[in-house]
Amino acid sequence: MKPNHVFVLTISIIISLIAFISLTEGKIVTIENKLDKNTAAMAAALTYMGSGRYNWGEDDGLIDYNWSVSHHGFELSIPDDMITFNLVFGVAGSIKEDKWFGPFDNTQDICWHYHGHQNNWKVYPCGSQ
Ligand SMILES: *[C@@H]1O[C@H](CO)[C@@H](O)[C@H](O)[C@H]1NC(C)=O
Repeated sequence: MKPNHVFVLTISIIISLIAFISLTEGKIVTIENKLDKNTAAMAAALTYMGSGRYNWGEDDGLIDYNWSVSHHGFELSIPDDMITFNLVFGVAGSIKEDKWFGPFDNTQDICWHYHGHQNNWKVYPCGSQ
């Protein structure tokens, strides 16, 4: 091959690899934590749907877990090989139970928004309230 053919081939392989990586990196759940300042919120993506209090961290069905202190947000990553997933949301030290939603199809990035105080909070899809 001529040197410039090798060059073109190398560039096309690199571009294909970049395209492949961005296709397989999965979807993102963005969480906006707009609770009272300095209130900690945590969320987990799970393979199953539950109810009541979630046992944070100790879980065979855990896909991803993350948390933040208000007003910083955070993200969960859902790998592309998950067809569906569920979400559980909590607030550190709250008297309120964790809140469960799902299942979601893993076809697009989504966003959820926390609003309220430590003991009186809600969470809903971004822009829906
Ligand atoms: C947690 O959220 C932060 C902020 O969005 C992000 O940079 C980080 O990758 C997330 N960690 C995990 C384990 O998902």
